[in-house]
Amino acid sequence: MIAGKRMILGITGGIAAYKGAALCSKLTQAGADVHVMMTASAAQFITPLTLQTLSRNPVLIDTFDERDPAVVTHIHQADHADLIVVAPATANSIAKLANGLADDMLSTTLLAATCPILIAPAMNVHMYEHPAVVSNIEKLAARGAMFVEPGTGQLACGYVAKGRLAEPEDIVRSIETWFAGSGRLRGKRVLVTAGGTMERLDPVRYLTNDSSGKMGFAIAEAAQRMGADVTLVAGRSTETPPAGVQVVRVASAADMLEAVVEAFPGTDVVIKAAAVADYRPAIVHKQKVKKSGEKLVLELERTTDILATLGERKEHQLLVGFAAETEQVAHYAMDKLKRKNCDLIVANDVSKEGVGFNGDTNAVDVYGPEGLEASFPLLSKREVASRLMALIADRLFQRGGDRS
Ligand code: CTP
Repeated sequence: MIAGKRMILGITGGIAAYKGAALCSKLTQAGADVHVMMTASAAQFITPLTLQTLSRNPVLIDTFDERDPAVVTHIHQADHADLIVVAPATANSIAKLANGLADDMLSTTLLAATCPILIAPAMNVHMYEHPAVVSNIEKLAARGAMFVEPGTGQLACGYVAKGRLAEPEDIVRSIETWFAGSGRLRGKRVLVTAGGTMERLDPVRYLTNDSSGKMGFAIAEAAQRMGADVTLVAGRSTETPPAGVQVVRVASAADMLEAVVEAFPGTDVVIKAAAVADYRPAIVHKQKVKKSGEKLVLELERTTDILATLGERKEHQLLVGFAAETEQVAHYAMDKLKRKNCDLIVANDVSKEGVGFNGDTNAVDVYGPEGLEASFPLLSKREVASRLMALIADRLFQRGGDRS
């Protein structure tokens, strides 16, 4: 997948810059044409000569270091790259890109680039969690930048925490996944539901659940990256929708049902990652309910099962449901698959640490009619989403018999 691709490898000034050399070597060995751009700070940690030797191309640092009069280097580099990888990406380099600053060769090229950008951050855990850094990362993700999240381990500053640059092999795997998937779902319409629903009790109260929407939003982003036309029907979530995705905001399970049923006929794949309420208050009070007595009993009634409704109406669509369980995961997943007439069920054991609602990570098992199809270990939700979308695309084309 990587052979013959032209890539810019941006190395910025953190101690993990030395791992940039290993990454450069792996990409070059895989057949990529790697053009390294370093910041002046990165050159304090590792020499340009190392990168030049590994990439067999000149290393660029200064915007004004114009060597070929026939071209303007940063524009030429930006125009010809299939992908730009920034690894390690410091808090400063992320901030510059998020805010459009361009004061060296790498940042200037990044602004001029129209190709995809993959960023592998590396920094101290408190820096990584600083609201400014979080907001810059969110800003870039919303614009379509891809991220390989840092790992947890011993940091150079002495902390054992999140912030360590992802291993070069993992970055290479993400690059391979991206090249393998890009454009694969062009012309396909993917409908994703995400977040929790809100069931009103009165004008100031509602029933909801812990869903953050992170998994569904990551799936929408992955599908869009693969070239699909994506509609995201989003319930309660504070996540920023991925750029280029059509977003339909809904509140209740009934609103979600209406939006999904309307979009369903023209859709090729439906992924129901939303946590939909199974019950709603039987009476929605027009005025705020006043307290009275020691106890209050709420009467709830069942909502319509959206997934099962789609399962009944299904024609050509590939239908993917979710199952959050705390026990007998395989049994319940297979039961849901059959009962709701799904093609795949993505199941997770939410009793395990780091799995399920609200966090940034997930570990899932994917079941099809024959049983377990794939197991994804504890990974970032973005990585789970990429792998899941690759599997869904395989399934779609196995049935349709075209693109592979
Ligand atoms: N779902 C739906 N409409 C509902 C309820 C759930 O579409 N009214 C979908 C979810 O989006 C998810 C799957 O069904 O894809 C989850 O199945 P569900 O039976 O709701 O799971 P649980 O509520 O955990 O079910 P149970 O109580 O049977 O374990």
